[in-house]
Amino acid sequence: LNLVVLISGGGSNLRALLEATRHGDFPARVIAVGADRDADGLVHAEEFGVPSFSVPFTSFADRESWGVELLAQLDQWKPDLVVLSGLMRLLPESVVAAYAPRLINTHPAYLPEFPGAHAVRDAIAAGVSQTGASVIVVDDGVDSGPILARERVPILPGDDADIVHDRIKIVERRLLAEVVRGIADGTVSLTGSTQPVSDPGP
Ligand code: GRF
Repeated sequence: LNLVVLISGGGSNLRALLEATRHGDFPARVIAVGADRDADGLVHAEEFGVPSFSVPFTSFADRESWGVELLAQLDQWKPDLVVLSGLMRLLPESVVAAYAPRLINTHPAYLPEFPGAHAVRDAIAAGVSQTGASVIVVDDGVDSGPILARERVPILPGDDADIVHDRIKIVERRLLAEVVRGIADGTVSLTGSTQPVSDPGP
């Protein structure tokens, strides 16, 4: 399964996926990494010898024209699956329409709880004792697509956002690798109604 991964930040989840694809039995490989800015995480692609591209959002007049260029870059690679792993940017409908449902996103909350760009901060502010990590299919909403995997992560007294987010990322990386493996071997459906990977049904 050929993956293109899109990031905006440090790319620690990207790095974990790159490391997972190094194992011979992992049924997917990252063929390119893209970013919506000069993201620090692009260094991981370089280190793993994976081509990368940057489509700086700020260089475009609007989301749609940014999306046209992003789509042109993605189409060059013809990925089987696009993985948003720390892309802090909503995709224009043109990109979603072109790739959905072969477009998944990791999110640091137990969706549908705490969607949006500040999930960890919001969970702490809500005073809840547990949040989570999720992998979903991207749709035109904000973190609103079908849930492929999700798992609870505790918030402990005195935790700050960084501590909680790091604890969540450990789970996100495992869920993402499980979901990618499942999509590659057909046990996870991007369109059907399979049970989320780590939340077994009744
Ligand atoms: C991850 O928690 C991802 O779910 C969220 O942003 C974070 C990215 O972290 N969208 P990193 O860039 O992979 O370290």
